[in-house]
Amino acid sequence: MFFTAEFLEELSERADIVDIVSEYVELKPKGSSLFGLCPFHSEKTPSFSVSQDKQFFHCFGCGAGGDVISFIMRSENLDFQDGVRLLAEKVGMPVPDEGGKGDAERRARILEINKFAAKYYHSCLMGEQGQEARNYLRSRGITDRTIRRFGLGFAPNSWNGLINAAKQYEKAELLQARLVSSKDGRVYDMFRNRIIFPIIDLRGNVIAFGGRLLGDGQPKYLNSPENLVYNKSRHLFALNIAKNSKSRIYILAEGYMDVIALHQAGFDTSVASLGTSLTEQQARLLAKYADEVVIAYDTDQAGRKASDRAIQLFEKTNVKVKLVNMQSAKDPDEYIKKYGADAFRLQIDRSENHIEYKLSAIRGKYDLENDDERIAYLKDAAKILSTIENPVELAVYITRVAETGKVDPSVLEEESNQVKKEKRKNDRRKLRQQTLRPSLSVQPKARELRYDNVRSAVAEEKLLTLLIGDISFMATAQQYLLPEHFSSETLGKTYQVLLSLYKSNRPFSMALLSQSLTVYEMDHIGSILVKAVPEGDKMQALMDYIEVILGESEKKDLDRKELLLYEWKKMKEKKGLEDN
Ligand code: GTP
Ligand code: MN
Repeated sequence: MFFTAEFLEELSERADIVDIVSEYVELKPKGSSLFGLCPFHSEKTPSFSVSQDKQFFHCFGCGAGGDVISFIMRSENLDFQDGVRLLAEKVGMPVPDEGGKGDAERRARILEINKFAAKYYHSCLMGEQGQEARNYLRSRGITDRTIRRFGLGFAPNSWNGLINAAKQYEKAELLQARLVSSKDGRVYDMFRNRIIFPIIDLRGNVIAFGGRLLGDGQPKYLNSPENLVYNKSRHLFALNIAKNSKSRIYILAEGYMDVIALHQAGFDTSVASLGTSLTEQQARLLAKYADEVVIAYDTDQAGRKASDRAIQLFEKTNVKVKLVNMQSAKDPDEYIKKYGADAFRLQIDRSENHIEYKLSAIRGKYDLENDDERIAYLKDAAKILSTIENPVELAVYITRVAETGKVDPSVLEEESNQVKKEKRKNDRRKLRQQTLRPSLSVQPKARELRYDNVRSAVAEEKLLTLLIGDISFMATAQQYLLPEHFSSETLGKTYQVLLSLYKSNRPFSMALLSQSLTVYEMDHIGSILVKAVPEGDKMQALMDYIEVILGESEKKDLDRKELLLYEWKKMKEKKGLEDN
């Protein structure tokens, strides 16, 4: 039996690796990962790490690694099939009997219809019937260039504008795409008299729409319901545009109009979680692209609550979070309109780095009347204080914490300096290890997987890390690189899986890899993924890796040809001798 990609994807979404591993291993946070005693070999100090961010585990001691499915397979001694079954049971997911065939085709069809609808809405906006909508957008300061950039559209005030335009599609298909609704056997356009915001995924597929009523009325916004191609908790509006920016500082807003106004004002890394509060998947998704996120939610009660939640979600990732202060405006759109882009940039630069929030969060964890807990509190607080760069800010917080923890400020300062020093030492050691890594340590643990060509294999590993981080790089890679070009069979197979995922329009999920690779191969992939994603210009890096891989692969071909030629000559010589 073969599980569908959808099923495995949902399973890996639901079965959080930290939850599952915690059933077997006691995990404690350390740095950006969690550590515990490895269940796969015997040890006294924890070298078994789990990354919630990347949803995989890796043991620095014995080299075991992989995703949540490989963890279950190993722990319970099960094959892939049974591992998946057990996991599905744990998270209460029914296992489909039949492979759910045809989903891929239905998906493709919905995407095609969505593309058609986006074009239709856009032409309505630009045509005669879009006059009023264009005026509305203009009154909100949106330029024609922005309209084109976001592919904005207009759904005319009609019950069957789209239905009539989309005659080549079956009504049932339009229903499946959730572009029309039905009542008492009659179908009608879902979006009417609304400005249309297409929601586009990272590959450029139109996966859903948002529609804002022209003028006032209820509901103000209408969004596509979820369907085969759209799962709203997994996407961020405008990430398809933002991901092309060189900056890794992102702005997270609430609404379509905020993001559009922000982009138009030059903040090209703005994205929106669209009304619903941020989900864990969205936070993880953003963490792939952002080193820092500036939260610019609405300034009302709901917005502040949503910010709090977002901060907690980002706490589990490597992303630094800041909150922008827009006191006298209700959202970024209004702020920029009132005070201009420069003022907003200033607010971003000044935005709170969230020390305050973190301090109050740990304050709640300890009973300060108890001396042991008070000391633990001060240690925790010192860690937070050690991240403050600005000396004035540091002084302010030290005084405050010292007061709360009833200790002399100089003691706290000493402790925080100590933590800072320790961290620097660690960073330097890590850097040294990374740059001076002898080629031997690059080799996979399992003997069968040994690299023949280390130079090529290193490039192959890095290329895969890039692709797994952002599969849209495959658009470039697939033009030049075939799985056969890889020097390592395991890495070539991994590339093959990524390639077919890309071609079938699926996002990457570790679960799909575990279906194609052996347990040892998964270990190895895990050990590659714990290494940092290459920094700097990723496109340039990608091209460099491709060049190395192709170059090494060509050399191998030449070597082989030379060898064949040599054998041919030897054979001829021998024959000549025999003939004489
Ligand atoms: P404008 O009034 O056009 O400036 O809207 P806004 O961008 O300021 O939106 P608002 O702050 O009212 O809401 C933020 C986001 O929440 C919107 O972009 C929508 O995605 C979502 N939203 C707002 N109102 C509704 C609604 O009535 N229904 C649904 N489903 N979503 C809504
Ligand atoms: Mn608004």
